[in-house]
Amino acid sequence: MEPSKTAMNALVLSDGVVTLRPWRPEDARAVFDACQDRLIALHTYVPVPYTIEHAQRFIAHCTEALTTGSTAAGFAITAAATGQVLGSMSRSRLEGHRASFGYWLAPEARGRGVATRALRLIADWTLATTDAIRLDLYTDLDNPASGRVAERAGFVREGIRRAWDIGRDGKPIDVIFYVLVRARA
Ligand SMILES: CC(C)(COP(=O)(O)OP(=O)(O)OC[C@H]1O[C@@H](n2cnc3c(N)ncnc32)[C@H](O)[C@@H]1OP(=O)(O)O)[C@@H](O)C(=O)NCCC(=O)NCCS
Repeated sequence: MEPSKTAMNALVLSDGVVTLRPWRPEDARAVFDACQDRLIALHTYVPVPYTIEHAQRFIAHCTEALTTGSTAAGFAITAAATGQVLGSMSRSRLEGHRASFGYWLAPEARGRGVATRALRLIADWTLATTDAIRLDLYTDLDNPASGRVAERAGFVREGIRRAWDIGRDGKPIDVIFYVLVRARA
């Protein structure tokens, strides 16, 4: 049975250290603050400059996805102990059997395995609640920290895709794909 829309909006995934929960309107300031970071601007597609209205629209968009039954899902990564917002973990709308993920952490939340825990949580949830077979994400060539996060969460480096994206300067960008394929029954 499909989870109800209300249940989706109350969804919480936790390993006791990191908790993924739906975004709330009052998180906008934390999103705005984090998205001033140079690395987030460099390695993700957040608007630059990033305004509080961008943060509010991002949260509204994630809330709408969770409450309208979309297979896209965006969660706040929070500290299980304190509730502090640490970052963002998203799943794009499923494309057939494929699910793709993206994430960022606030600068002060880095270097302690938070993104790895968050990626494991959303990957496990995706395997448990959808028929997705191929889970993937991609990183810029010069983003080894994100590649390590993927590998520590069980994704395997698949290879480089040439000119997969177009950068802010309009030039094509090569990326590295990481993939986790559902084990066969
Ligand atoms: C990517 C990101 C989420 C990783 O955050 P994090 O979990 O704190 O990552 P860490 O700093 O702990 O680094 C993860 C791993 O990469 C390694 N690493 C970090 N910087 C590295 C570098 N310059 N070269 C090689 N390895 C590096 C760390 O040693 C660590 O490896 P370990 O787990 O084996 O010790 C964070 O850097 C971020 O938010 N970056 C900006 C947004 C972004 O890049 N999002 C991902 C887009 S694909």
